[in-house]
Amino acid sequence: MHGFSYKNGSLHCDDVDLAPLAAEHGTPLYVYSATTILDHYRRLDAALAGVDHEVAYAVKANSNLSVLRLLANEGAGFDIVSGGELFRVIKAGGDPAHCTFAGVGKTREEIVYALEQGIYSFNVESEEELRYLNEVAGELGMIAPAAVRVNPNVDAKTHKYISTGKSENKFGVDFEDIAGLYERAAKELPNIKLRGLQMHIGSQLTSIAPFLEAVNKVAPLARQFKEVYGIEFWSIGGGIGIIYQNSLASGGVDWWESQQPEERPLTISRYGSEMVRLLKDLGLKILLEPGRLIVGNAGVLITRCLYEKKGRAKTFKIVDAGMNDLIRPALYEGHHEIVPLKQARSDARVTMDVVGPICESGDFFCQNRELPDFQPGDSVALMSAGAYGFAMASNYNSRPLPAEILVEGDVATVIRKRQKLEDLIEGEL
Ligand code: LLP
Repeated sequence: MHGFSYKNGSLHCDDVDLAPLAAEHGTPLYVYSATTILDHYRRLDAALAGVDHEVAYAVKANSNLSVLRLLANEGAGFDIVSGGELFRVIKAGGDPAHCTFAGVGKTREEIVYALEQGIYSFNVESEEELRYLNEVAGELGMIAPAAVRVNPNVDAKTHKYISTGKSENKFGVDFEDIAGLYERAAKELPNIKLRGLQMHIGSQLTSIAPFLEAVNKVAPLARQFKEVYGIEFWSIGGGIGIIYQNSLASGGVDWWESQQPEERPLTISRYGSEMVRLLKDLGLKILLEPGRLIVGNAGVLITRCLYEKKGRAKTFKIVDAGMNDLIRPALYEGHHEIVPLKQARSDARVTMDVVGPICESGDFFCQNRELPDFQPGDSVALMSAGAYGFAMASNYNSRPLPAEILVEGDVATVIRKRQKLEDLIEGEL
């Protein structure tokens, strides 16, 4: 489900017409639907009702304070990967006691900050890090709660840059070595409390199979660690994929049901029922770390066409957003549906490249795609841009960051102002 649909030929986010919104606030412009974010969170939470669980939203997907506040008010936990993300969660009213801290390269400053704030668990990625955490905690006279990330060596069958659960990836401790590490930690590291076990095999998984494989493989370890070390939680990570293709139509249950069963993408209820079936007898608290699932389809990036350039080989539509605003197509060959804010009156379609103004050939949003023709002055929405969109935006080419808007019903609120030129040199001497 998502809150974007055409009403009277105009693309709306919930009850807000996007064309006048873009005219008022300028482009490029990120717009998020609060209803959609909450719907996804609640549906995942409900799908796991059969086990003791907590949804720890992966902040990296979209870390705007207002998005975090929405989820904090729902009682979500947070999965963070930096001191900066912890700072944001606290500013948004989130509870550090419901934060897990992931990542292969935590610094001393980050560890100290997280210990002082009393986070729920450090999700540790190597023996070296666990020993360092023990040392820093000892210096502060504290006990650090920790879980080690196990790398189950499972193929997530996703883009190679977002696959994390194979031995050749830098993440976690090899499956074969994890039991020995818990044993050494229990004996040798007095300032560590082994509180859980963690894994995360990759992102944008659209089939249940890799999740089942990983959970089945690691469950005996989780059971053993509960008995031997008294761990209380198992985080099974995030990674549930969303629909990027045909994303406007696929918002509805009707669309989903019209697909052949074997082609239906993974749904929240399928994921939930399979996980509950496998995990309910373990007696552990199950943590989930979804990012994309919660916010991905809840956001769009609106951009305006500046020029049409008809080359000998191709037609280029040059828009005012660039890879600095949304890097997914350039970095992961990510597909984002492109739809006009005003539905075209004719059925004419044109094969085009939609490209940005950045001085790189990788700066495109689509290549050789057949789309309804649009012209300079028209605005289009890049769909499913709520996750890893603004969060990965940069000032490359000295372009000010776009504004962000949160829609709640018929109310649109600016939740981040567009940067001004002055902001670009802030802090430079
Ligand atoms: N937990 C851990 C330890 C992670 O590394 C990640 C994502 C998540 C949870 C959340 O995964 P999600 O549920 O969002 O799939 N920028 C890329 C995705 C990078 C994902 C990094 N880790 C993209 O735009 O596709």
